[in-house]
Amino acid sequence: MTLRRAAARALANVALVKYFGKRDTAQNLPAAGSLSVALEPLETITEIAFDEDLERDVVSFGGAPATPAFAARTIAFLDVVREFAGCTTAARVVTRNSFPTAAGLASSASGFAALALAATKALGVELSEPELSALARRGSGSAARSIPGGIAVWEAGTRADGADSFARAIAAPRDLDLRIVVGVTDPGPKAVGSTLAMELTQTTSPYFASWIASAREDLAEAIAAVEARDLERLGEIAERSALAMHGAALAARPGLVFWNGATVDALHSIRALRAAGSLVFFTCDAGPQPKALCAPADEDAVAAAFAEVPGMRSIIRCRPGAGAAVVPCP
Ligand code: PMV
Repeated sequence: MTLRRAAARALANVALVKYFGKRDTAQNLPAAGSLSVALEPLETITEIAFDEDLERDVVSFGGAPATPAFAARTIAFLDVVREFAGCTTAARVVTRNSFPTAAGLASSASGFAALALAATKALGVELSEPELSALARRGSGSAARSIPGGIAVWEAGTRADGADSFARAIAAPRDLDLRIVVGVTDPGPKAVGSTLAMELTQTTSPYFASWIASAREDLAEAIAAVEARDLERLGEIAERSALAMHGAALAARPGLVFWNGATVDALHSIRALRAAGSLVFFTCDAGPQPKALCAPADEDAVAAAFAEVPGMRSIIRCRPGAGAAVVPCP
């Protein structure tokens, strides 16, 4: 019996310049680049064992057998890795998150980043960070950004094979003194997954082309803001990027409304805090969880404001975190 095992940890990330649209669907090649911050402590830990005695892949998630949909997506990605590595052996995958799954908290980002690293490590495939990021991208686009961590830029690239579409860190976690406060308004799985939401927006929204044009401009400005360590500028761009993405999605046919009442109240509470002098901005992905980007000095006020929003279920305080890493097998 040959057993090849490894385990890896990766953090979720939140995009400050959003990815929402693809130039190649099969390979998750984005229509525009994006920029994100890795969220410590929102982590996925994944262990994998390629086992010649196994007849087929077995996937468990959060201590129980994974749902058929989760298992199918995991196995489809494992097939990409196996093809890459020239391997046909089945695997046992055990994965767990420290946060609600599939609810706009980028669980697919941390999940596929951890799986890409653990699986390649177990198979003895040595990849550079850009190569690993491009591989993780095949599982979920945003996973590309969870490989480098920190403040990461994922370029759209131009190559048909996607080899130039990977994420790289443009700042380390400590370079930007900021906090991200996540409000959980609905911990259940979201009604429409981001793959479908993106496709519907891209194919039916009359605003899609202008959304992509604005995303390209926002990315260049956001990179300059990070280089200047200018949180205010970065926050303004993050807020407008999120609103433009939601604007395009709202205009899809049928329109996509990701927010509930608590989400909208939380966005207003951020604007009210800013009007009163706090350095705080909001963002929100394709789900109902509002996220506030703020200076460390304003973190308590932001958490208190979120706590007062009727319907707010929980609050998670995050800070910029590291890239994916191999961890000891338990
Ligand atoms: O990686 P995906 O396919 O789950 O797409 C993520 C899309 C957004 O979260 C809405 C935006 C982003 O850039 O993370």
